[in-house]
Amino acid sequence: MTRHFLELTDLSAAEARRIVARASALKQLRDPGYRPFTGRTLAMIFTKSSTRTRVSFEAGMARFGGHALFLTTATTQLGRDEPIADTARVLSRMCDAIMIRNDSQAQQVELAAHSRVPVINGLSDMHHPCQMLADLQCWFEHRGDPAGKVAAWIGDGNNVCHSWIQAAKKFGFTLRIAAPPGYLPSADLLKAAGLSVQMVASPADAVRDADLVVTDTWTSMGQEAETQRRLAAFAGYQVDDALMGKARPDAIFMHCLPAHRGEEVAASVIDGAQSVVWDEAENRLWAQMALLEFLLVGTPSS
Ligand code: CP
Ligand code: NVA
Repeated sequence: MTRHFLELTDLSAAEARRIVARASALKQLRDPGYRPFTGRTLAMIFTKSSTRTRVSFEAGMARFGGHALFLTTATTQLGRDEPIADTARVLSRMCDAIMIRNDSQAQQVELAAHSRVPVINGLSDMHHPCQMLADLQCWFEHRGDPAGKVAAWIGDGNNVCHSWIQAAKKFGFTLRIAAPPGYLPSADLLKAAGLSVQMVASPADAVRDADLVVTDTWTSMGQEAETQRRLAAFAGYQVDDALMGKARPDAIFMHCLPAHRGEEVAASVIDGAQSVVWDEAENRLWAQMALLEFLLVGTPSS
């Protein structure tokens, strides 16, 4: 059966751990002679902007000897209403995997249902699972196994937050979330995460003695019309030095980027000593190479 990666729960805990470990191994090895994707093609569909996701998938395919196609709605027949199911049927007869960034998890599920090849979620309205693999790799690399530790999510209960919720249960850490009323994460995902995830009343409650503090933009792609309302709603939710000071002294700071200094994070935090955001961004490359390897050829046993 074709495996897809539309949300973190598409992997078992053992598989997710193996992929994250493999990502670190690939990063250390940097073996230019290892080209398992020679002759293989990844189709990448973007209906939204991207720097990291596009470049990491494209560079990752090239490093492994393969090729990536950058497709947009404007330049394909998707923009002229060709059904997603027909697009899946055609792309999957020509390409070896499909990555999609759009604003509809349901459409991604439909794409996968009609695809003969693995479909990877490069961000949807609901999830950002590739980001989560990179973030987990980063946490392991900086502080060891996250199991038993505490992460604090400050801000919007958005797509990235949803992937953190799924990661908490999968990797055995506690996630405390502080989000303003009206911007809470999915109740279904919270229920599925059980005791791994706690909603708390304030950013200070979330970060108290936390091992990791993470946030994201207050206005995600497609929500630009709500910017002013969101700026007001998220007042008091900036990750600044005072807030970081309530976490453990060795706490690390993460942000999937792009960041807005002076809004969700103070410049002194994201550009400060506790920030690991550039390693986190680099890991998009290695985590996705490990994911593609798992989906297309299988992770080597050693
Ligand atoms: N973090 C992330 O997905 O970045 P891009 O939007 O640049 O791909
Ligand atoms: N939550 C953000 C993440 C960007 C990588 C968005 O959806 O725009």
